[in-house]
Amino acid sequence: MKEQWSPSSWRNLPMGQVPAFPDLAELAAVEGRIATYPPLVFAGEARALKARLADVAAGRALLLQGGDCAESFAEHGADNIRDMFRLFLQMAVVLTFAAASPIVKVGRIAGQFAKPRSTPTERQGDMELLSYHGDVINGYEFSPESRRPDPARQEMVYRQSAATLNLLRAFAQGGYANLENVQRWMLDFVAGSPQYQQYQALADRITETLAFMRAIGLDPENHPELATTDFYTSHEALLLGYEQALTRVDSTSGDWYATSGHMIWIGDRTRQPNHAHVEYCRGVKNPIGLKCGPSLEPDTLLRLVDILNPQNEPGRLTLIARFGFDKVADHLPGLIRAIEREGHVVVWSCDPMHGNTVKAGNGYKTRPFDHIVSEVEDFFAIHRAEGTIAGGVHIEMTGVNVTECTGGARPVTEADLPSRYLTHCDPRLNASQALELAFTLADLFKRDRAERKAPVFVA
Ligand code: PEP
Ligand code: CO
Repeated sequence: MKEQWSPSSWRNLPMGQVPAFPDLAELAAVEGRIATYPPLVFAGEARALKARLADVAAGRALLLQGGDCAESFAEHGADNIRDMFRLFLQMAVVLTFAAASPIVKVGRIAGQFAKPRSTPTERQGDMELLSYHGDVINGYEFSPESRRPDPARQEMVYRQSAATLNLLRAFAQGGYANLENVQRWMLDFVAGSPQYQQYQALADRITETLAFMRAIGLDPENHPELATTDFYTSHEALLLGYEQALTRVDSTSGDWYATSGHMIWIGDRTRQPNHAHVEYCRGVKNPIGLKCGPSLEPDTLLRLVDILNPQNEPGRLTLIARFGFDKVADHLPGLIRAIEREGHVVVWSCDPMHGNTVKAGNGYKTRPFDHIVSEVEDFFAIHRAEGTIAGGVHIEMTGVNVTECTGGARPVTEADLPSRYLTHCDPRLNASQALELAFTLADLFKRDRAERKAPVFVA
């Protein structure tokens, strides 16, 4: 495994979670075409994100990563992208203001189309079919034709990702993210919720501050940092043939980069050290995320860190803890201590979604909001106790007014779940719940920062 890496060296290794494609000739033809298409992101941007993540590792910035569990062809539209971006800006402003810290914004977007599944097949009545693996592999509809892996979907994903990125770049750089718009980012359906009041009060203070700054000559026209933002993309690098087709040499450094998104991550089910997904990710220079679930032992984590970040480069590796609210205290401290003992520099991020999925009484897959908050709080408390840095969060959320996770200040009940349950995969926080989580996080970050800045008195 430590042998020569190439964009295709993963092909010789065992690979989980990617179903077999019935038509290999067609698959090869599609991959061959994508290999000739322009990159979706550029190496310099991935390097810039790595530098920002190095700041997170050092406690100088916070990571906010989030978006859909799975993007879909059906939900691709300007309004959805805009609403997701608005929600992101709102959460970031809440966090920036409270923690007085820069926020590194990374969407699960413009490439998040491939899904690992807990069971390989799904049964309905007498029919058993391949599980849905995300729109880049097969269709959501339960029919033999739809569930058949279809390589043509990869070119649709490439084009949808390009269109999504185009809009995101325009929103980030073209004036939409101007802080003077802080009042306009609020999504209408959040009106009337407690978060609305809290956000409004904060937006009023920012508007007042901006008016003061304008009066003394610090205006967005002359200070673009007030009018623009940096927004990065990320996804799970699951479908390695697609990833390989978009793996390119950076002409300035001579290094290989995944150009399908700025950051890619390895899922909790595909992180075996000798398997294909780890092999692919070790050779590209992008920032890499590694999901850490309850079955990950400290020794295996250390092996993975050696493979994925042999030079101990700050910002290269983000460890995304996803244990579940009732398991995080059992598992996280051991992993943190192993990393500290070996002197590895990593970003620690908390995914409070994937360990907290439950089945509601009516059969819907959901996540109770109080469990999500509880895992985040424990994650922070554990880092405080260990003297390490809680770098950020990784969440599934949407700007659409869905009813997928239960609870929150404007509660979604189990009986509400069917009314707007739109996800193709895992339940996401809606905008009210996401904003509520942002305010909770803001308090935690604020406390962390205050403690780290507090003078230490030696008796
Ligand atoms: C995901 O992030 O959607 C996911 C499948 O996560 P995990 O690999 O942590 O289960
Ligand atoms: Co998910």
